Parts: sequence; C-alpha cells; structure tokens
Amino acid sequence: MKSYNHYIGGQWVDPAGGEWFDTENPYTGEVWARIARGTESDVSRAVSAAKMAFEGEWGSMNPTKRGKLLVRLAELIEREAPRLGEIEVRDNGKLIAEMGAQTRYMAEWYRYYGGLADKIEGAVIPTDKPGIFNFTRYEPLGVVAMITPWNSPLLLLTWKLAAALAAGNTAVVKPSEFTSASTLEFAELFEEAGFPPGVFNVVTGFGAEAGAPLVVHPHVEKVAFTGSDVAGQKIYEAAAKKIMPVTLELGGKSPNIVFADADMEAAVMGAISGIFAATGQTCIAGSRLLLQRSIHDDFVKRLVEVAGEARMGDPMSPETHVGPITTRSQFQKVLDYIGIAKAEGATCVLGGGPYSGPSTKGSQFVAPTIFTNVRNDMRIAQEEVFGPVLSVIPFEDEVEAIAIANDIDFGLAAGVWTSDIGRALRMSERLRAGTVWVNTYRAVSFTSPFGGYKRSGEGRESGKEAIKEFLQVKSVWIAQEASTQNPFIIR
Ligand code: NAI
Ligand code: MG
Repeated sequence: MKSYNHYIGGQWVDPAGGEWFDTENPYTGEVWARIARGTESDVSRAVSAAKMAFEGEWGSMNPTKRGKLLVRLAELIEREAPRLGEIEVRDNGKLIAEMGAQTRYMAEWYRYYGGLADKIEGAVIPTDKPGIFNFTRYEPLGVVAMITPWNSPLLLLTWKLAAALAAGNTAVVKPSEFTSASTLEFAELFEEAGFPPGVFNVVTGFGAEAGAPLVVHPHVEKVAFTGSDVAGQKIYEAAAKKIMPVTLELGGKSPNIVFADADMEAAVMGAISGIFAATGQTCIAGSRLLLQRSIHDDFVKRLVEVAGEARMGDPMSPETHVGPITTRSQFQKVLDYIGIAKAEGATCVLGGGPYSGPSTKGSQFVAPTIFTNVRNDMRIAQEEVFGPVLSVIPFEDEVEAIAIANDIDFGLAAGVWTSDIGRALRMSERLRAGTVWVNTYRAVSFTSPFGGYKRSGEGRESGKEAIKEFLQVKSVWIAQEASTQNPFIIR
C-alpha cells in the first residue's frame, strides 16, 4: 500500500508523532493509501521551511523569474493531468469524465498569475508636502497557510496558490484529511519546475491536529480557506486574535431561477448540471430551483425525466454521470437532510434515499433527489446539503423571485434563465451573490473574481484583483533634501 509523508522544505518527512491514517476510495470502500498524521511540530517545521524560503532565494527572486517558474509549473501540470486526475477519482470519487479536463484547466491559473507576477505595480502619488516624493510598493505577506476541502482538492488549492506565489509569498498547505494524496503528488512537480525548496510545503492530518496549529502559528501571515462555514468561522476567530487577514470560501445555497420566457430545454439542463454535477458536492450547487408558477409543473416533469436517466456507478468509467458521495459522514449527512425535508412536508418526486445498482459497489451512493412543495423557510431550503438534493420553490414574478432568492444567509452564486435582457440586467443587479449567471450555470475562470457575499465568505479568488489578497501596500516618503526643522513642531 502506498504511504505518503509530509512535504517540507523539498523533502519527504516522516510525521513527528510517528502515526499515519488511512485514506479510502469512496467507490470501492477500500483503503488504498496511508497519510502522515500531522501535529504541531510538523506544522512548525513546515512554517520554518516556508519562512526560510521567503527570507532567502524566493524572497529575493525577481518577479519575472517567479512568473516563469509558475508558467513552467503549468506545463508540468498539463503533462501530469491524466495521472493527477486519476488520483482525484480514486481518493474522492470524482468522475474521470470531469477530472481530465479540470486538471488540465488548472494549468491556466498558473499561467495567468505567472504573467501577472511582474505587473504588480505601485504608484507615484502626488503629495501636498513640498519637496517630498511619495510612492507605493506592493509587497508579499510572507508565509500563507492554505486549508483546503475534499470536493475539488487540487483546483481549490490552485485558486489560492497561483495568486499567492505570483505575489511572492510562500505556502504551507493542509489538505483535507479525506483527500490528501493529490496535493502530495502535485508537490513533486515543484522541484522539477525549479522552485527553491520551502516555497511549497504540505502538512497532512486532521483539522484540529494540523489545521488549527497552522492557523495560530505566529509566523503564518494569512490563511486562505475553502470549506464549511463552521470551520471557516473558527479560523476567522483565531485569525482575529492575531489580527491576520483571511480569505474564506464557505459554500452556499444558491438559487437557480427560471422564468416562463426562458429556453426551457436549456434551463432544464442548467438546473440538472447545477445540482447533480459532481454529485452535488460543490459550493456553487444550484440547490434551490425557483420556478415561475406558470411553468412549474411542466418543468418539474421534464426535470424528473432527465435526472431519472442519470447513470450511477464507477467514477472511472467515462459513461458515469453521478458518482459516490466522497465520505461516510457526508453520505450520512445527505441522507439526514432527505429525512428532514420529508419531515418538513416537502414532496419527494425523484430519488429520496440511498441508491444501489449493478455498478455501485460501495454503499455511498445517494439517488438524485428532487423535492417540490418546498417553502423557503424550511431547513432543506436554507442549509447547505452538499449532495444531489434539489429543492423546488415556486414564485409569481420578478419581485417575489428576488425576495425568495435573497432571503438566506448565504450569497455565493445565483442563476437566472430568461430571454428578456432587461430582466437579466435587473436580476443580476438585485441578486445578493458574488457570481450571477444568466442562461448558463457553473462558468468559472482564472480571469474572473469568485467569492461570496454574506455568510458565503470573505475576499475573492481568481482574476486580477485577487492577487491583492496576497499583497500588502507600503507607502514610501523620500525628501529631496534632508532638512533640519524644529523637531518639536509637527508640520
Ligand atoms: P471542513 O470545513 O471541516 O474541512 C475543510 C478543511 O478544513 C479540511 O482540510 C479540514 O481538515 C480543515 N479544518 C477543519 N476544522 C479546522 C480548524 N478548526 N482549523 C483549521 N482547519 C480546520 O469540511 P468537512 O468536514 O470536510 O465537510 C463538512 C461540510 O462542509 C460539508 O458537508 C459541506 O457542507 C461543507 N463543505 C463545503 C465546501 C465548499 O466548497 N464550500 C467544501 C467541503 C465541504
Ligand atoms: Mg479518500
């Protein structure tokens, strides 16, 4: 069986506590590798390595060279995409049909931010002080901690890492305890790309044992996190004690809103991809489907027809549409929410429980599930399930659609389906969400900022402005002539 150690300062390092834990293939239910169980002393070692790199070769490297290394890394990712994609499938249950393209696409973030590395420009600022010149410099923060979830381990790391490294920081990553392997395999590429040791470090282990000490470490200058709002809040509190900046991406309960004037077939496909892609285990899942009342019944009928045809099974098969739930606890959580929806009085029109069929070896499959007669104040409409469970809510008109869509603590994304351009513009202005899609769903890119309104998070990832999340600005004042004024009078 494969055994993984921490990756610290360019070396594979045994866990200080001498313990490893198992990682499973969610499709077969079998343990396929063991992962180092990190503790505070592993974290300290990794942070020291990252700090040394920041104060050494990496910190003094010119930004053009830094950018070239990121571009080289992009090339290696493209070369290794099939292998990295397969590891995600094995460890996470993601579909191979999705992972080939997703892993290759990751390379674009490194290329984009590699290009940006030497375009981080300060300004010369006009000043009211005679004879004093003022300019700004954007500087990296130092050691950045990145704590990632299990649903898209490498992609969600990439959204943080590419920008952070382009800005000149170094990184200590703590991947999810359920899906650490891909991040460790990815670590191997750094040496080949030519990065100095210590720029990229990985400490594996559990949230409380390895994640928490990383956040509070005095030499960590920022945390970039994706995961649950519960863990996100704890990290934010710990960061507040240190006065440390964070970016947090904490999921959502995104409304996907279909008007009667929409292209129905496109909207049905959009609704299905919104909730059932990646087995519903995505932060941007369109888990609340808002349907204009006049089309409600026909739309639901077609939705059930198409979703009912989903092929469930081996995620390594390119034929599979819906794979297993990634973790046992998540499987249980999804089933619990199905129970809650039924108890709240929602009507189950598709699925509604675990699924087993000829090609669903393990027991971690949930049938694509659709509830109608959902009211927006029900728990099934307000809380993130993170699974293939859709809540359908009817509405009368634009005003009611907006009211329902925004009546929630989250604000990560929203979809609108309409053929009326005026309505598209009004809706995109009024929806309280970091991303709004019109007549499409799920589009994300390295070029465009992504992040949450309200409880969905803090800060943005991707796009030009996201690099500022990993920089701080310094104002420099230079007098043309050293003057000897009366030092007791402030001018
Ligand atoms: P989690 O939020 O507990 O874990 C995410 C990462 O944070 C993992 O690496 C974990 O080890 C780490 N972590 C946990 N507690 C920590 C702490 N106190 N300090 C530092 N690091 C800590 O998420 P989990 O348990 O994997 O999934 C629970 C729920 O979170 C899911 O049911 C889903 O609703 C939501 N989730 C949302 C995601 C998103 O993309 N927004 C991604 C994954 C899960
Ligand atoms: Mg696993």
